[in-house]
Amino acid sequence: MSLLRRALEPLVESTVALSYGAPGYRLRAGEWDPRELDVDCRGRTALVTGANSGIGRAVAHGLARRGASVILVCRNPERGREALEALRAETGSTCVRLEFADVSLVRDLARLVRAVRESAGRLDVLVNNAGVVIPTRETTSEGLEKTFATNVLAGFALTCGLRPLLERAAVDAPARVVTVTSGGMYTQRFALEDPQSERSYSGLRAYAQSKRAQVLLNGEFAARLGPCGIVSSAMHPGWAATPGVAGALPRFESLFGWLLRTPEQGADTALWLSVSEAAKEANGRLYLDRRQRREHVLPWTRSPEGTGARLYDYCAELLRARGDAADFGL
Ligand SMILES: NC(=O)c1ccc[n+]([C@@H]2O[C@H](COP(=O)([O-])OP(=O)(O)OC[C@H]3O[C@@H](n4cnc5c(N)ncnc54)[C@H](OP(=O)(O)O)[C@@H]3O)[C@@H](O)[C@H]2O)c1
Repeated sequence: MSLLRRALEPLVESTVALSYGAPGYRLRAGEWDPRELDVDCRGRTALVTGANSGIGRAVAHGLARRGASVILVCRNPERGREALEALRAETGSTCVRLEFADVSLVRDLARLVRAVRESAGRLDVLVNNAGVVIPTRETTSEGLEKTFATNVLAGFALTCGLRPLLERAAVDAPARVVTVTSGGMYTQRFALEDPQSERSYSGLRAYAQSKRAQVLLNGEFAARLGPCGIVSSAMHPGWAATPGVAGALPRFESLFGWLLRTPEQGADTALWLSVSEAAKEANGRLYLDRRQRREHVLPWTRSPEGTGARLYDYCAELLRARGDAADFGL
């Protein structure tokens, strides 16, 4: 590490805005071995949720450029088709295709799982990326709180439902499940007593809680799928300038816009976890900028032992209650 980098490192690490912004990315990227992402992904299949925009789109681009067959999961036909055409043109890949699903809806998730199981023989990489911040409490047409349904239950359902395809891929090499969480989760303990914010709701708190829940589930999946050769990891992208940030946090964007990462910089670690040899050891871990990170900064955000397992059971129960248990292997 250069002397300048070594001198800047503690300053950047101790300052959230610099660490999560583009300066943190640039500082750390200077240390990376470019060969780690020099990976030929031909023969591998990947699925990315929320692939038409921001970080998901950048991950899908990186996978397609490396030759993977990529399934883009999008909810909006127009935005999905536009992303499909753009990704095909930008990467020259003919192996990118589109599946439509509103991932906040269990019936769409069940349909998606069935379609992917029928059309793909294996799944090497699953990137649970789609995410939302919703200012006032909303429920889906199936009665679930929308932030929880989109950010937590969707990733849970897809990981369970696509497990047979992930296991098939893992016969050749470790399959990967990558969850895109957020540094916002450092502010919250997951409230298992009120997982869908029925007692009180704040958009940012519900978001941070859902992101904390994703990290809890990552630990559960690591323990349950790790022995089958499936590596489950979580990463947070720092702060990246995406349509999601501009739409949900306009004041944050106008204050910190100059500091934000590009979507590609925000997506780098998700791509690295998806394809690199070095990330085969990532099972159960949380990352920022290709570096393992602690899960808690504040002591009161820790949950009692067993919370991850109870959250897993709660999610499974929600899916069973909707009669789609078989699609998700539950
Ligand atoms: N950007 C950041 O600084 C940052 C920081 C921390 C964490 N993250 C996380 O990064 C992930 C991607 O966010 P982003 O910043 O790239 O935002 P984005 O540009 O808004 O992308 C979010 C994607 O998720 C999709 N999506 C949302 N709800 C969906 C649903 N119900 N069904 C299907 N797709 C749905 C969106 O589709 P539409 O285009 O149709 O809305 C979009 O493609 C999220 O999980 C977010 O929490 C981002």
